Amino acid sequence: MGLIFWSLIISALLTLLWNFSSFGKYWIKWAIFGIVSVISATFPIPLMLLHPRDPKNALIPAAGLRLCSKILGLSLKVEGLENIVQGTGCVVLINHQSMLDLIVLACLWPKMDNCTVISKKEIFYIQPFGLASWLWGTIFISRGSKSAREQVNETGEIIKKRKARVLMFPEGTRNLGKTELLPFKKGAFHLAVASGVPIQPVAVRRYDFLKNYSFENGEIRIKILPGISTTPYSSKNDLSDLIDKTYKVMSEGVNELSNSINHTNGYTNRK
Ligand SMILES: *[C@@H]1O[C@H](CO)[C@@H](O)[C@H](O)[C@H]1NC(C)=O
Ligand SMILES: *[C@@H]1O[C@H](CO)[C@@H](O)[C@H](O)[C@H]1NC(C)=O
Ligand SMILES: *[C@@H]1O[C@H](CO)[C@@H](O)[C@H](O)[C@H]1NC(C)=O
Ligand SMILES: *[C@@H]1O[C@H](CO)[C@@H](O)[C@H](O)[C@H]1NC(C)=O
Repeated sequence: MGLIFWSLIISALLTLLWNFSSFGKYWIKWAIFGIVSVISATFPIPLMLLHPRDPKNALIPAAGLRLCSKILGLSLKVEGLENIVQGTGCVVLINHQSMLDLIVLACLWPKMDNCTVISKKEIFYIQPFGLASWLWGTIFISRGSKSAREQVNETGEIIKKRKARVLMFPEGTRNLGKTELLPFKKGAFHLAVASGVPIQPVAVRRYDFLKNYSFENGEIRIKILPGISTTPYSSKNDLSDLIDKTYKVMSEGVNELSNSINHTNGYTNRK
């Protein structure tokens, strides 16, 4: 009796907060995102144990996150599937705006085979998430114990062996609400060149639904851009030309997506 009473009171309060306070809605949405992320990553662990280190193990968590995006009022759209680099591994570069980029990974994962991510070793020790993440094939690297060159070499060997598509955020840190991408870090480019695989740039529309303390309904729109070959480069070269080229296509991609308005009859560019 008491339990039902309090559940009713709490749901009524949450509903009020959600509907009448943008600040309340902001926190409730983030809480839902956090809870769903943890539950959908960890509940399927027993299933994942059947096929350790298989990228397909992340498909259930990914489906959980995509479902969660509906509750958060976000619609999802992926374009450019025809541009997916086939037949080799690749380094997939995505602009980084928020923790919500996990939903972007959840959209790309089922569209591209053999996806993986690179993570700091410390994440492995956050259990049970670390175990789940190991089970879907995350490449863990430890900062400090090895030189950057050795890490690039080891990761590169994994890309070649598994034909892996490594999903990375070249800006390094989150970049929300800015009109330009942050300068790219070099690591991802060294990795692609050392492994002899192309770069697959991906542009994500700016999250205009997300501000400091407001989280409205909106759209996560993702565009897979044509692959960029790294064969003209060698690890001894200066890679700034390759980095500039990639930065340019990603910036243009993000701008193009962000400047389009969704009319019911389709997108048109804002003039
Ligand atoms: C890693 O190092 C070995 C030995 O130096 C080399 O043969 C191999 O091509 C390197 N692999 C990558 C991906 O850099
Ligand atoms: C995924 O990796 C496996 C080997 O690990 C390979 O046989 C397969 O061709 C790869 N898939 C793609 C699309 O590259
Ligand atoms: C968010 O807050 C930071 C500083 O607290 C401010 O610089 C930024 O302009 C704010 N962003 C938005 C979208 O309001
Ligand atoms: C525009 O947005 C509506 C609702 O968010 C969606 O149903 C529709 O598919 C979108 N249009 C396009 C062309 O994506």
